[in-house]
Amino acid sequence: MPTPLIIDTDPGVDDAVAILMAAASPEVDLRAVTAVFGNVPLAATTRNAGRLLALAGRPEVPVGAGAARPLVHAQAERAERWHGGDGLGGRATALPAPAAPPDPRGAVGLMAAVLREASEPVTIAPIGPLTNVALLLAVHPELAPRIGRIVWMGGTLGAGNVTGAAEFNALCDPEAAHRVLTQADVPVTMVPLDLTTRCPAGPDWVEALGAAGSRGLELAQIIAHYRAAYRDRYGVDAVALHDAVAVLEAVLPGTLRTTPMAVRVACDLGPARGATVPARRPAPEGPPVQVAHDADMDAVLAGVLERVGRLG
Ligand code: RIB
Ligand code: CA
Repeated sequence: MPTPLIIDTDPGVDDAVAILMAAASPEVDLRAVTAVFGNVPLAATTRNAGRLLALAGRPEVPVGAGAARPLVHAQAERAERWHGGDGLGGRATALPAPAAPPDPRGAVGLMAAVLREASEPVTIAPIGPLTNVALLLAVHPELAPRIGRIVWMGGTLGAGNVTGAAEFNALCDPEAAHRVLTQADVPVTMVPLDLTTRCPAGPDWVEALGAAGSRGLELAQIIAHYRAAYRDRYGVDAVALHDAVAVLEAVLPGTLRTTPMAVRVACDLGPARGATVPARRPAPEGPPVQVAHDADMDAVLAGVLERVGRLG
């Protein structure tokens, strides 16, 4: 029986790979995609979610628009440099149009409806800021038992990718991240930068993606801008498909090796804002978060590629 899945996303180039990979995976039943601000503004992430589902041949999956901004303080910065002004490497208008307007219930209402209707626990895979998920848990605490697990791409135990301390999704809304990571209602797996940056997709992988079918070719074209940004910023011809690593874990539980840690998020306005700080000992500071720390990287990349190839 496929696991019901909701992806909460800010597409986003790596989000695009993750969404298509999930759409091709029979282990999950993609019940909804909810959009959140992040890499680009909410209007663009919402349109992009609809476009990616149309590209994947899944026009029936509803899209709900969620938070346009963080819970408390303004978003520190967006990521057009990496994802392009349209969020999809300049390819957004080359994709099919969304099959339908966004669901009138919005992200929280749509997630709540999926949770109520599901006959078994639902996996939620947030691959952007955690604002929508924090709102869902605040507005509908009665639905928490219906969530099987949350698998979040975000955070870092080491250096950040926006500031020295903070990873992008955490920094977008530290208060939301703290709320989700310190709640005991739902098991959380956190897939941090420390792991996702150890899974670089190089030229051979991108070339194989482009040859994997029409969807793979489109994703390879979407990746081109992201790849140029990596070459420009880091001098390497490889990209980190952060979100695809996390969503593969949501699709295939156990793909990533994890260790339990209580994690708190720095919510002050100082230089460490958005840092995800683990307690190294069994911690009274809160419930354990399963923090992903290792995986067979080659198998992860091969798994993502093979699944996208199934779309043709
Ligand atoms: O730090 C990586 C994360 O930020 C990914 O989710 C990427 O899409 C961006 O949102
Ligand atoms: Ca993302």
